[in-house]
Amino acid sequence: MNFSSSTREVLEVRDVPRHIAIIMDGNGRWARQRHLPRVAGHGRGVETVREITRTCVRRGVEYLTLFAFSSENWRRPAEEVSLLRQLFLAALEQEIEKLNANGIRLRVIGDLAPFGQRIVEMAARAEANTAANRRLTLTICANYGGRWDLLQAVSRMVQRFPDQHEGFTEEQLAPFLALSYAPEPDLFIRTGGEQRISNFVLWQLAYTELFFTRTLWPDFDAKALDEAIGWYRERERRFGRTSDQVLAAGGGGADKGARKVG
Ligand code: IPE
Ligand code: IPE
Ligand code: MG
Repeated sequence: MNFSSSTREVLEVRDVPRHIAIIMDGNGRWARQRHLPRVAGHGRGVETVREITRTCVRRGVEYLTLFAFSSENWRRPAEEVSLLRQLFLAALEQEIEKLNANGIRLRVIGDLAPFGQRIVEMAARAEANTAANRRLTLTICANYGGRWDLLQAVSRMVQRFPDQHEGFTEEQLAPFLALSYAPEPDLFIRTGGEQRISNFVLWQLAYTELFFTRTLWPDFDAKALDEAIGWYRERERRFGRTSDQVLAAGGGGADKGARKVG
């Protein structure tokens, strides 16, 4: 497999992030501001998913990973959990044609079993029906948690190497992580104003550029995404090196060369 790790090598830096990972937060507050039920915010949030996915295809982003339901979101009222489940199921049933028309491959990661057999089946079908698409890989994280991912990966790795008891390597672990098919995220975005990771992708965010915005997810549009990508371009991705080393190597950010470090 194609293994490249930010802690084992200096990653290639491009103008447009290859992989964007987003915590879509603020649906509830968007609804409350309008005196609507929280679920109305989730409905609008699905519209934003469509717009941001379309925009990523146009901008040449190759991987888009969206946090839709965390392993901690079961703590919410049963009614809200049930509505989120329904929205997810409806999207799996209705969006496949559009994904195919736009060259989008769908992946769903997380422990889907607690959502029930129907979702497990629909997700598998959607993945199979879009498997040949190559323009963008859209990953939906549902009942996903960064700690869950690390534990399931370590468990499977240990089973795979029954005679080994120490000295495990990143190369051995990598294929078992849920996002093993994707490069590490270049750009992380969290909408809604909070500055925390909330048990999203933990391992692969090691050297990701972190962008936080107060914009609520239903208000996050193509222009807002472009702002985040513009901010990303200004970063100097040093991966542990000095700024001089980065410049000597041709720049660690997109506007290679002409960068000063503040
Ligand atoms: C994010 O919006 C969507 C999910 C977590 C499913 P929230 O529902 O967390 O919205 P706020 O944070 O309450 O505004
Ligand atoms: C993170 O948002 C999870 C998703 C967006 C799916 P939350 O709204 O659940 O995060 P916390 O609880 O505020 O940290
Ligand atoms: Mg929230």
